[in-house]
Amino acid sequence: MTDEKMLAVLRDGGASYISGEELCKLAGISRAAIWKRIEKLREEGYDIEALPHLGYRLVGSPDSLIPGEIKWKLGAKVLGREIISYKKVDSTNDIAYGLAEKKMKEGTVIIAEEQARGKGRHGRTWISPPKGGIYMSCILRPELAPNEITKITLLAAVAVAKAIRAVTGLPASIKWPNDILVEGKKVCGILTEMKAEQDRVDFIILGIGVNVNTPAKALPKGASSLKAELHDIGKDAAVSRVELAKNILEAVEKYYDILKESGAAPIIEEWKNLSAMLGSRIKVILPRRTFEAQAETIDRDGALIVRLDSGVLERVSSGDIVMIG
Ligand code: BTN
Repeated sequence: MTDEKMLAVLRDGGASYISGEELCKLAGISRAAIWKRIEKLREEGYDIEALPHLGYRLVGSPDSLIPGEIKWKLGAKVLGREIISYKKVDSTNDIAYGLAEKKMKEGTVIIAEEQARGKGRHGRTWISPPKGGIYMSCILRPELAPNEITKITLLAAVAVAKAIRAVTGLPASIKWPNDILVEGKKVCGILTEMKAEQDRVDFIILGIGVNVNTPAKALPKGASSLKAELHDIGKDAAVSRVELAKNILEAVEKYYDILKESGAAPIIEEWKNLSAMLGSRIKVILPRRTFEAQAETIDRDGALIVRLDSGVLERVSSGDIVMIG
């Protein structure tokens, strides 16, 4: 019996005690070995009551991003079937990339409590302090051409916005291409990286960083956390990172399946409904030029269509956007 299995037995026990004898029988190990395992689980943050004549009972679980917690009743089948968790890494995307190169299977998730060198878009840093964030990277192996990778980015943005809404009730919205905002402040960033041959994607690393319970002062200007936004509307409670991580994995899998079955159109519709900027005036920052325009729509490939002041439409396929009104 693995630690995961033992945890499952304790969970299934609910409010009743499981005797040491029963655990010994199920696990096929000695009482001393059971005790060692219980101690290990306690070190991980599980609150396990042990009474001499009654046995063991699970009283509380930690909000730790560990496989035993995230996998428990996880609704996704492929995403998260393998979860590798770390206390601290440089970047979960880098670890996932290395494993994907070693043929690690689709759906593997790398998750960490802290990142020393979290990577953002356009070579920026993603501030990843401990105790409060979700930093995770999923290995995907879709049958897509390299220029279709934007579809994965869009579906991830839809999935995360929906998951944040479901778990917290906050009005999460999307800023093109894939920032998640609450009240105009960034609470989540998504970084997709890929390895591809000329006409086919080998793998995609979908990196998602969410500021969940992170104190606002630990975050850069313009960013916020879900807890801070809940506080602003008079709701003082920490958000369960485990629940949110599960919801995100389930939603990503749902929209990934939709993409495979029906193409990007339904995802783009959802994206538009969740968009924070369509119809607004924006500043478009490209490597060699910056201009103001009106955000009109996104096209079937996920590129942003903007209307210049001259009335001419322009297609923006990568770049940065600032909302100005
Ligand atoms: C952005 O610039 O908005 C994208 C930020 C992406 C951050 C996540 S955190 C998990 C994963 N690992 C990284 O190093 N980056 C992504």
